[in-house]
Amino acid sequence: MNPTQNRRILLVDDMPTIHEDFRKILLPPSAAKSALDAAKAALFDDEVKSVEAPFELDSAYQGEEGLAKVQASLAAGRPYAMAFVDMRMPPGWDGVETIEHLWRADPQLQVVICTAYSDTSWEEVLTRLDARDRLLILKKPFDNIEVRQLASALTAKWQATRQADLQIDQLEAAVAERTAKLVGANEALQAEIAERKHRESQLVQSEKLASIGQLAAGVAHEINNPIGFVCSNFGALQGYLDNLFALLDAYERAAAQLNSPETASGLARLRKDLQFDFLKEDVPGLMRESKEGIERVRAIVQDLRDFSQVDSAQAWQTVSLHAGIDSTLNIVASEVRAVADVVKAYGQIPEIECQASQINQVVMNLVVNAAHAMGPQRGSITLTTGTEGDSVWLEVADTGSGIPPENLSRLFDPFFTTKPVGKGTGLGLSLSYGIVQKHHGRIEVESRVGEGTTFRVVLPVRQPKP
Ligand SMILES: Nc1ncnc2c1ncn2[C@@H]1O[C@H](COP(=O)(O)OP(=O)(O)O)[C@@H](O)[C@H]1O
Ligand SMILES: [Mg+2]
Repeated sequence: MNPTQNRRILLVDDMPTIHEDFRKILLPPSAAKSALDAAKAALFDDEVKSVEAPFELDSAYQGEEGLAKVQASLAAGRPYAMAFVDMRMPPGWDGVETIEHLWRADPQLQVVICTAYSDTSWEEVLTRLDARDRLLILKKPFDNIEVRQLASALTAKWQATRQADLQIDQLEAAVAERTAKLVGANEALQAEIAERKHRESQLVQSEKLASIGQLAAGVAHEINNPIGFVCSNFGALQGYLDNLFALLDAYERAAAQLNSPETASGLARLRKDLQFDFLKEDVPGLMRESKEGIERVRAIVQDLRDFSQVDSAQAWQTVSLHAGIDSTLNIVASEVRAVADVVKAYGQIPEIECQASQINQVVMNLVVNAAHAMGPQRGSITLTTGTEGDSVWLEVADTGSGIPPENLSRLFDPFFTTKPVGKGTGLGLSLSYGIVQKHHGRIEVESRVGEGTTFRVVLPVRQPKP
């Protein structure tokens, strides 16, 4: 049913003559004409709207019957637009009671109450029905034109109300749809932003690594040469000094045999002025410390070379990660054994395609860091492995100091270290990050201050084809 074309009217009145009158007033004189109008209406929908569509009139002679008709019409999806209801309809419900029932069944129904008597107070009727805008009053005897106008106006009102409701429904549906779309778009945007941020930070990290790598390579190269000759000169110098001291000893012994007291006392004075005894004692210490210093510089240069991977003409091999971990643990055993127990919890994992010595370097950095994180109490370092889709993972978990949240974002920065000078260069994790990235894997960290830290390295079993 087209809701804009509802001209269905129900008349509830106990007097059959009234039904006759209404039929004459509301229905067109000939059935033929109304059939023609209906055909016109179907063909020229817009045009016919100005010419009034015909009414459809149903009759009920008691309130109960009226209610049944309203319910049936609703069930059939053809509700009435309006009803004329008589006030007095013995023996059944009176008009007010009937209208109460009708509205309970169909709140949209427009109603005209018809009466010749004013035996009920209208105020009372209106309060009882709570019907400011759905109810009109028609007093008998009525004029034909009154009935027609009421029917026209109220069916039109029903249509207008229905249309407004429909439009509100459509509007609400449209708003809901838009809202859903917006929410979806917003979620997609958020995901995109997060993804971009992540990629950006990775990019920044790898650019940082690349530029620091170049710098490190340059510095390592510059320092490598001088430190090389300082180191070899130093070896020679040590030999020369030993010889010089041996010679001085010989001279000293010879001087004891001198017969010239002046020369002997001159030598003794010189010896005292130059603090020769102290010098003799101090020189080996100075040499030792300098040697340590040079060794340390060499180690740092080596770290830098590792970091910039200048020596890395590495082959890709398919190897067991467990074997790599085991050999690495052997190398760092002395450093780790003193402070922590090492627990291995290896899972079933396939061999992986990697640059084995580079991966070992990552494992070493993680294990040494874990050992460094131990406090005065002995702790444990647990190495766990497993698979995740087409990748394998290794976790290095320690029961050490943990990492304060504000440091977490800087861990992988080159030269970020919290260790005293000489103990850390801050290159281990950034180097590891670079290696893992080159292997198309990822490295993650989780840490609680005072409880410990877990590093997780995820590596693909097969490297993507270049
Ligand atoms: N397992 C760990 N527990 C606590 N802190 C850690 C751990 N691993 C790394 N760190 C922190 O990250 C810093 C950087 O580590 P790294 O790059 O290996 O450089 P380094 O060890 O030379 O300091 C360390 O100085 C330390 O503060
Ligand atoms: Mg380290």
